[in-house]
Amino acid sequence: MTPDLMEAGARLRAAHDARPPAKATESGDRGASYSRVVQPGEVDVTHGAILYLDDITVSFDGFRALNRLSLSISAGELRCIIGPNGAGKTTMMDVITGKTRPDEGKAYFGSTIDLLRLRESQIAQIGIGRKFQKPTVYEQLTVFENLELALKADRRVRASMFFRLTGEQLDRIGEVLTLIHLKDSAQRTAGNLSHGQKQWLEIGMLLMQDPKLLLLDEPVAGMTDEETERTAELFLSLEGSHSLVVVEHDMKFIGELTQGGRNGKRVTVLHEGSVLSEGTLADVQANDKVVEVYLGR
Ligand SMILES: Nc1ncnc2c1ncn2[C@@H]1O[C@H](COP(=O)(O)OP(=O)(O)OP(=O)(O)O)[C@@H](O)[C@H]1O
Ligand SMILES: [Mg+2]
Repeated sequence: MTPDLMEAGARLRAAHDARPPAKATESGDRGASYSRVVQPGEVDVTHGAILYLDDITVSFDGFRALNRLSLSISAGELRCIIGPNGAGKTTMMDVITGKTRPDEGKAYFGSTIDLLRLRESQIAQIGIGRKFQKPTVYEQLTVFENLELALKADRRVRASMFFRLTGEQLDRIGEVLTLIHLKDSAQRTAGNLSHGQKQWLEIGMLLMQDPKLLLLDEPVAGMTDEETERTAELFLSLEGSHSLVVVEHDMKFIGELTQGGRNGKRVTVLHEGSVLSEGTLADVQANDKVVEVYLGR
């Protein structure tokens, strides 16, 4: 047997051993813990890319919202996407998440998962989380309950437990509360949070489902300057362990994201459904066409 095959076999065996027992177990039992199981078809990033779009075209009544768009995001990367209104940024997220089917092109999650063959719900299930512009938290529930609910929405968790939290899951909620700066507000009713805090809570709800790729569409719209800065810190803390695609018009925020964390962060400028420019923030800011169509002089 080749070492590759032996390794694959060992991985399968480990996955089998880690599988929760068929019978539901008591909450708190080892078997009930939130253990990720390696699924066949788990995202394969051995070639470096977590997301790969190639020549994607989306037409609405003949109008090309995306026009042969190609884009590749590396595993662990935090990519900023900017561009004028109508450039196709949200449509691109609609394609990645299965909400819109392109007329042409390819979309892969890792090197093996063909996103164009999956339904929206399946795409969420394999680890692509999306944050829409408007926060959609459960206003009547507490912050803690919102996170708890997000955890239970995960089929893998539902399958392995009665709806009672294990110690591990409580720890995870605690970690996420700290990340989203809401530790002291865990028992507050979500409806009473500020707009920025609601946005964080929604990001926290996404994180509870442990996505590998996070798509964030205008996440700091309507936030105060301080909330915006904290959001940049939050995203930078996720870089590496998650891959993030952040669409924003707020250039101060884009500046904070590109200056912090890993070096050499890339910014992609979309215009009329295609990539107009890509490089460091300084690169794209120095591009005459980008200045003309978006940044202004
Ligand atoms: N369902 C749809 N039907 C028809 N046209 C659409 C549809 N969705 C988007 N469009 C058009 O496609 C283009 C791209 O829209 P999209 O929302 O992707 O832009 P965007 O880059 O996200 O802009 P913004 O910065 O304003 O959010 C726009 O001209 C928009 O009017
Ligand atoms: Mg948009």
